Amino acid sequence: MIEKKKLSVLLDNCLFGNRMICREVTDSTNLEICCARKEGAKEGCLAIAEQQTAGKGRRGRNWSSPPGENLYFSLLLCPQTEPSKASMVTLLMAMAVVRAVRGLGLDGKIKWPNDVVLSGKKVCGILTELFFESDGGYYVVIGTGINVNQTVFAQEIQATAASLKTELDFADVQSTIDRENLLCAVLKSFEQYYGKFQADGDLSGLRMEYEEMLANRNMAVKVLDPKGAWEGVALGINDTGELLVRRPDGGVEAVYAGEVSVRGIYGYV
Ligand code: BTN
Repeated sequence: MIEKKKLSVLLDNCLFGNRMICREVTDSTNLEICCARKEGAKEGCLAIAEQQTAGKGRRGRNWSSPPGENLYFSLLLCPQTEPSKASMVTLLMAMAVVRAVRGLGLDGKIKWPNDVVLSGKKVCGILTELFFESDGGYYVVIGTGINVNQTVFAQEIQATAASLKTELDFADVQSTIDRENLLCAVLKSFEQYYGKFQADGDLSGLRMEYEEMLANRNMAVKVLDPKGAWEGVALGINDTGELLVRRPDGGVEAVYAGEVSVRGIYGYV
């Protein structure tokens, strides 16, 4: 079980985790945060679970959440920016996870917009949800699942999923990763990135760092647009987090994550 006391000590003065809800089992930590908000929770409230019975993934998929090995956590954010910019926080969380993963000596990268990958396999997913309130305000729930010490994966995700442990074992550094330390590293980095985002009002000050983490930068990608798939070269992101892709005719298009997804030409990344 994640040790709440250890985590509070490690988090020290971090804004995220100022209030902590720790559950052995829950349906979804995102739902925990929604309930907490209805009871008055403030920005920074953190929900963590050992196991989720209805973990939510992007695009209506579910997020496999077996007990005892991984991290499943959600944060309550009340950004000062307008709601249309709120989804950018997802990219900040991906950066925070990459930084923490690199702290373990692993070569973490981001598959745009927000999957964290190691050796081309997904180790972390992030789901950001926006909720409007009766007073006209809004809040954001950002939920993150990191495959930390899991070593066995269901057949249907074996080809595309990995964990931090499987990658360390592969590099012959066999160890069990301390989840409290990892979570603390993620939250502390997220606090820094979020502060910069709030000050700038967009991703302009973080673009270069994000692009350095981008897995398929300057590589051929397939843009899966509902209006028709096309291929191009991923160049980087703009200040709002859209992916800039050069078309074969030389034109550069900004691709918005809500509408399309992007794959490598030869596989998932
Ligand atoms: C994805 O599909 O890539 C996003 C997965 C997000 C999973 C996390 S686990 C913690 C939080 N609670 C949920 O129900 N989902 C997110």
